[in-house]
Amino acid sequence: MPAMKVNTLPTRTLWPVVGMRAVDIIDQSALPHDYRTLRLSTLEDAAHAIRAMQVRGAPLIGVTAAYGLALALDRHANDAALAAAAATLAATRPTAVNLHWALMRMQSRLLPLPSGERADAAWREAGEIAEEDAAQCQRIGEIGLALLRPMAEQGGRLNIMTHCNAGWLATIDYGTALAPVYAAFDSGIDIHVWVSETRPRNQGLLTAWELRQHGVPHTLFADNAAGLLLARDGEFAIDAVIVGADRIAANGDVANKVGTYLKALAARESDVPFYVAAPHSTIDFSCTSGAQIPIEERDGDELRMLHGRDSSGQPARLRQLFADEAVANPAFDVTPARLISAIITERGVCPADGLRRLYPETRHD
Ligand code: MRU
Repeated sequence: MPAMKVNTLPTRTLWPVVGMRAVDIIDQSALPHDYRTLRLSTLEDAAHAIRAMQVRGAPLIGVTAAYGLALALDRHANDAALAAAAATLAATRPTAVNLHWALMRMQSRLLPLPSGERADAAWREAGEIAEEDAAQCQRIGEIGLALLRPMAEQGGRLNIMTHCNAGWLATIDYGTALAPVYAAFDSGIDIHVWVSETRPRNQGLLTAWELRQHGVPHTLFADNAAGLLLARDGEFAIDAVIVGADRIAANGDVANKVGTYLKALAARESDVPFYVAAPHSTIDFSCTSGAQIPIEERDGDELRMLHGRDSSGQPARLRQLFADEAVANPAFDVTPARLISAIITERGVCPADGLRRLYPETRHD
């Protein structure tokens, strides 16, 4: 886990319950106001957790889907049941490819087995996917630190901008974009993180919550301020932008939380390096370019309604737009490879169009 989470929280976002065929998760739909956990005991629990964003973030969605399949196979493990459970989970969210990657990996591991052996094998495989995710994110942190260190050595505070939440909450542990930030902070680098609010689901609030738990200095800003902040000189000049990814096409185009593209454009205009951090499970070599990545369109009520706490601290919903007002709510956008300075994976740092060289063993059709 990232060292020094200054709290008593569990160290991970999802963990198997000892002695039970169930997993517990942090219910991220309640953060940052409430910290609570939820138990997933059935396929439907897992599918609902992904759909309702109780778990979110591409790597964590993938691991949850893998455990969802294991939960399903505890009940029925024939070929038809396996295919039906995979289809249910695949339909929960379209953009993050880690979900589909995890389901494919689980199915290719399980289908050759007799049905009586599938459930136990599914629990083992889901556990391995979770462990690999944590290890790869830890490695992304080490590799990203090597990129940040020379910037820090130029003197002064290191200012990093991020968008959405790509910290440990979005993965099993460590995070993707925030893994280098935690590694830098833990190694004593004077770092400050500029956190984009990320309307409408406000994942930036989760990033701020995480950074606060860890003691990392940070400032939240409204999404629309990013251009101004990126253009600033002097003490507050942004040294680099680091974001996560939900799907990276073979040519290096990156689908990530909506608003990422605008930050990449502003970063290019201001000569600020723009990095994407993601494990290999986020790379989709079957997508030749970002144009092929499906973009999730979410419920318009995410814009029409505000969620939070009222002045007495009670959960509250506030209508800010009429129910019949037309709303567009794409959850992701695509940043073209040409705007990306480099991609950081568990294998190393490469130009956005250099992924094929980093993963030569992967089928690239
Ligand atoms: O819609 P979400 O919250 O599941 O979005 C995913 C994300 O958290 C981000 O896009 C993130 O930057 C990539 S996942 C580490």
